[in-house]
Amino acid sequence: MLKKSPFYALMTILVVAAMALSACGPAATSAPTQFVATEPAAKLAVGIVLPTKDEPRWVQDETRFKEALTAAGYDVEILFSQGDSAKEKANVEALITKGVKVIIITPQDGTAAAAAAEAARAAGVKVISYDRLIRDTDAVDYYVTFDSVAVGAAQAQYLVDKAEGTGNPLYLYAGAASDNNAFLFFEGAWNVLQPKIADGTFVIKNSSEAVALQGKATLTRDEMAQIIGQVTTNWDFNTAKSLAEANLTVAGAADKGSVFILAPNDGTARAIADVFAADKDVTSYVVTGQDAEKASVQYIIDGKQSMTVLKDVRTLVGDAISAAIAFLEGKTPPQTNTYDNGVIDVPAKPSEVVSVDKDNVQEAVIDSGYWPAADFTGLP
Ligand code: BGC
Repeated sequence: MLKKSPFYALMTILVVAAMALSACGPAATSAPTQFVATEPAAKLAVGIVLPTKDEPRWVQDETRFKEALTAAGYDVEILFSQGDSAKEKANVEALITKGVKVIIITPQDGTAAAAAAEAARAAGVKVISYDRLIRDTDAVDYYVTFDSVAVGAAQAQYLVDKAEGTGNPLYLYAGAASDNNAFLFFEGAWNVLQPKIADGTFVIKNSSEAVALQGKATLTRDEMAQIIGQVTTNWDFNTAKSLAEANLTVAGAADKGSVFILAPNDGTARAIADVFAADKDVTSYVVTGQDAEKASVQYIIDGKQSMTVLKDVRTLVGDAISAAIAFLEGKTPPQTNTYDNGVIDVPAKPSEVVSVDKDNVQEAVIDSGYWPAADFTGLP
């Protein structure tokens, strides 16, 4: 448990100062945040629940949390829900029983996680929604996030910038409908793509629902749900692969040629890219992604994935720890925005994201210290 002592106050200052430094921006050229512990540290009364170990994205968050906290001498317990909301709730209950005062949760399913958040609230534990928003409950105290609408907009802008003339085939894919972020990413992408569909630059090839709505500049959540339901990858590599295969089986040669693909994240981008690359009628493709996963950074270097959106997890981890410390001290974390979770406007401070392709991969991903150059071959 947390001990209030002069030493704790010192550690808090060190951690908060380090976090402030780490929040300088995703493309900052500084090394990852280092913490200096000069004495045995107080235990941080925080538990973390992440959605799955099956995606590198969340294993990375675990690693970066451990790096940040153990370097400071703090204990932290990180549990994984493995795609199961019941396990997620059991994890939250286990952490409550252990006496944590703050729980940081990335919900597997935004709405299903409301029950876990309410159990924490009932036990007097603060709930920080991490990266994904917990929906349909007032039991969320803070939301630590990237600007997810900007992620979708960056993906779409990349496609727009690479397209010439009219009639360019466009294939749309989305994340899991149970993840609020899938809506934010799609909203951001639609805002940028829709005018370019309306003016004939792009022609949607794989979603009758999107075609039916293509005249609308702004979509309601229900309208987005209709499209997402048709083009969801469920954040799953195999689902993405099967869907892309099914789409290309139905499409004729005239729907292929030089194609443009909105893929929602790196794991699904690699799966979809491999399917398109194998189709003899696809002469070239531009495909988006997000997360700057190592495998996708290599795909970008190799010309197999066009871009990714770097969401610097070091910044998110720093913001989450700063927010947890603020709650432990009875303070309120900084707020610049709110996000509507269906019941309340949750206070948040979204972080910036960076669009990365072959041209800036060295600067944005390697020089920033995000991944070491030695992990890749053929860097430009
Ligand atoms: C996250 C992405 C991640 C996706 C799949 C989203 O909520 O924001 O970074 O790729 O989930 O796990």
